Amino acid sequence: MEKVLITGAAGFLGSHLCDKFIKEGFQVIGMDNFITGDKKNISHLLDNPLFQFIEHDVTEFIKIEGELDYILHFASPASPIDYLKIPIQTLKVGSLGTHNLLGLAKAKNARLLIASTSEVYGDPLVHPQTEEYYGNVNTIGPRGVYDEAKRFQESITMAYHRFHGLETRIVRIFNTYGPRMRLNDGRVIPAFMGQALRGEDLTVFGDGMQTRSFCYVSDQVDGIYKLLFSDYSNPVNIGNPHEITIKDFAEEIIKLTGTDQKITYKELPKDDPLQRQPDITLAKKLLGWEPKVGREEGMLKTFNYFKSLTKDELYKSEHKDFSKHIRK
Ligand SMILES: NC(=O)c1ccc[n+]([C@@H]2O[C@H](COP(=O)([O-])OP(=O)(O)OC[C@H]3O[C@@H](n4cnc5c(N)ncnc54)[C@H](O)[C@@H]3O)[C@@H](O)[C@H]2O)c1
Repeated sequence: MEKVLITGAAGFLGSHLCDKFIKEGFQVIGMDNFITGDKKNISHLLDNPLFQFIEHDVTEFIKIEGELDYILHFASPASPIDYLKIPIQTLKVGSLGTHNLLGLAKAKNARLLIASTSEVYGDPLVHPQTEEYYGNVNTIGPRGVYDEAKRFQESITMAYHRFHGLETRIVRIFNTYGPRMRLNDGRVIPAFMGQALRGEDLTVFGDGMQTRSFCYVSDQVDGIYKLLFSDYSNPVNIGNPHEITIKDFAEEIIKLTGTDQKITYKELPKDDPLQRQPDITLAKKLLGWEPKVGREEGMLKTFNYFKSLTKDELYKSEHKDFSKHIRK
């Protein structure tokens, strides 16, 4: 039986990847330090004989007994308010964490897939973004800690591939959504859904004319799975190219939730990208992959998840407490 290590297993994408690999008959080791993740996301797997969980910070040396066939590195804060609050941890997990995992992959002769991001394109001057675009990133801006960690992660991964002949894959993930996102992680979908469920007005930053494209989690997981088993080692965009303005999206959420909230406008945060849309020509050609889940269907599934949260979870307004992870 093949064995896969998934870092960031208690997070949104990591937990869905654990489900997928278990469903496909792999033995899965999940690793996480819970800095932005939640035990609840993997609680249904803890008694599964195919699943083993290790609580560990991947920026520290990683030791795994026995053989390992694949590693998926998904540990990293991923939402802007998370990485603004823990900027050094974000830089470390993309750099030191990736270096540790590359070393482990080399020692075990395992194939490593890293989670990169559309943020490597920064505030793009090219639209939609193909994999050839080098990006427009402000290294010292507030988002630089995430963007540059991910860019470094890609560079060191390619260096191990070229210098050591390591089998590597790089997925550039565009905005993905679905059940198990954190309600108060600051990303637009949980933010709008939380506001709708609490009967609050929906907050749009700027004039709402900035665009986003949203990929449902099952499509994202299928794309990542196909990429891992392809023989392509350069980066591949996985996302949903269907673009919408934030203002139109807020109106869609109001319609979906059957509420009559208004939209209120606030100042746009610094370096917030105005447009983000993947060009997925390469993924289509290489992997025969394209998203299948429409926005209406995906949003409904996501809304039903948020609706199932307890009142306490819905009204818990404070952001995640990072204090125990921060060394003074
Ligand atoms: N969700 C998206 O739309 C999106 C978009 C682009 C890229 N990504 C990438 O996908 C990955 C997962 O994102 P997500 O949305 O699931 O975020 P998430 O915050 O839900 O999950 C990240 C997980 O990594 C864990 N983690 C962070 N630092 C760690 C460390 N040092 N050691 C061990 N575990 C650690 C967290 O506790 C958490 O469980 C990230 O690498 C992110 O950059 C996600």
